[in-house]
Amino acid sequence: MSEMLRLEEISKSFPGVRALKNVNFSLKRGEIHALVGENGAGKSTLVKIISGVYKADSGRIFFENKKVKIDNANDAVFLGISTVHQSLVVFPDLTVLENLFIDNYSSSKGLIKWKVMREKAVHVMNEFGIHLSLDQEARTLSAPAQKLLQILRALLKKAKVLILDEPTAALTVDETELLFKNVKKLKNRGIGVIYISHLLEEIFQLADKVTVLRNGEVVTSQPLSELTLADIVKNMIGKELRSYYPKRESKPGPVILTVRNLRKGILKNISLKLRKGEILGIAGILGAGRTTLAKVLFGILKPDKGTILLNGKEIKIKTPLDAIDNGIVYVPEDKQRQGLILRESVRFNISIANLKTITKHGILDLSKENFMVNKAIHDFEIDPPFPGFQVLHLSGGNQQKVVIAKWSVRNASIIIMDEPTQGIDVGSKSQMYNLMSMFAKDGKAIILISSDFNELINMCDRIIVLRKGMVSGELDKSEFSIDKVIYLSTK
Ligand SMILES: Nc1ncnc2c1ncn2[C@@H]1O[C@H](COP(=O)(O)OP(=O)(O)OP(=O)(O)O)[C@@H](O)[C@H]1O
Ligand SMILES: [Mg+2]
Repeated sequence: MSEMLRLEEISKSFPGVRALKNVNFSLKRGEIHALVGENGAGKSTLVKIISGVYKADSGRIFFENKKVKIDNANDAVFLGISTVHQSLVVFPDLTVLENLFIDNYSSSKGLIKWKVMREKAVHVMNEFGIHLSLDQEARTLSAPAQKLLQILRALLKKAKVLILDEPTAALTVDETELLFKNVKKLKNRGIGVIYISHLLEEIFQLADKVTVLRNGEVVTSQPLSELTLADIVKNMIGKELRSYYPKRESKPGPVILTVRNLRKGILKNISLKLRKGEILGIAGILGAGRTTLAKVLFGILKPDKGTILLNGKEIKIKTPLDAIDNGIVYVPEDKQRQGLILRESVRFNISIANLKTITKHGILDLSKENFMVNKAIHDFEIDPPFPGFQVLHLSGGNQQKVVIAKWSVRNASIIIMDEPTQGIDVGSKSQMYNLMSMFAKDGKAIILISSDFNELINMCDRIIVLRKGMVSGELDKSEFSIDKVIYLSTK
């Protein structure tokens, strides 16, 4: 296999952080090369250097054995490097078609050739089996569909090198499978793929080679066949990870939340009960109504019908503020967009959600604020651990930790978590599980929406499966199995 891309001694620093230190990396034709490492290890920074978003401080880049300069995104696209970045990059007011060609529209004599672009788009959608309606505004697409849009945009460019930075974090099981099929197809055509994921099972399904980054340095770069899962984890975190899921002794208490005959959009008729100290899993595939349910319970969407009882008394949740007043908080699925004020600091983002706790007669109690923010940073291992750090510049996984931290430090009695561990590295995941378990032990009730069936089975006391807006089944801990969850999700 001939070499496509080679990086030599690449370094990159940001104020206070050495994100990459003398990184060597190479990619061959037809190779799927996985890049793994903890949150903040430098994966996305490396990707951004290859795709021209950032410029390396030092080091050399070779493309097809020629030394090249990649100073901006156009240089990368010109060489044939196409990237699906970790964060969602879609323009909400534009249509799917406009989004697809935002950076390479076809035109002649200043006229944009919509017909040509439409035909190209349809051709590529058919080729890869990804179907989106071209005239729909991007804002109306679900998070997974937005990700597919981003992937399609990269595929349109007929790249020689395709970079996927955590593409499946926003995808469902079926879409992930489709993506894998397409990635393998591209590999067979000789395209080199750089693949980033925190789901190591995915690495084992796809990769030929694995490079592990830790604190901005390459720890190892080896064929996958020479590595075990435990080897990879050990290289990532620098030590062995013993127990992944915490041992939970579940003693659910009295019912805290009752939902009766709830209807909204896709939700046809949902009834459920949630107990104190319980972790209730909500499973289902895309379109089953899981996020709609969460949004209704948090007051983002108004139900058409149905009653919600808190401790036996009916409550009306018309806005998120009503929900928060009733002790209900929500960690949303699209954490970056819905959960954070990116231009502000970690301190600001955590404080703003907890003003009641840290003010007295309307005056901010600075020492309380410091204590709370530092504790959150410590509990969630937010890295770098600086309260004043701008959230925008945290790595993707660390941004997610801030969202979860900001809601969890509150005195909530019900925590709704929508895909809380997507995009979070193994070490932090296991820590997140410990926290969930601790919350439950403290008597908080948790609704855990997850597409990771293993996570549901290992963490929950009970799992409710939704299918097409209805409860298709309920499983008690003694009945848990992945097969049953899949069966109930799709039967
Ligand atoms: N623009 C920036 N300004 C300041 N620091 C930055 C910037 N971009 C990245 N960093 C820092 O560089 C380090 C590497 O971040 P990077 O986003 O590459 O991590 P990652 O491996 O992609 O992590 P994740 O798995 O969470 O996505 C982190 O410490 C991050 O905070
Ligand atoms: Mg990243």
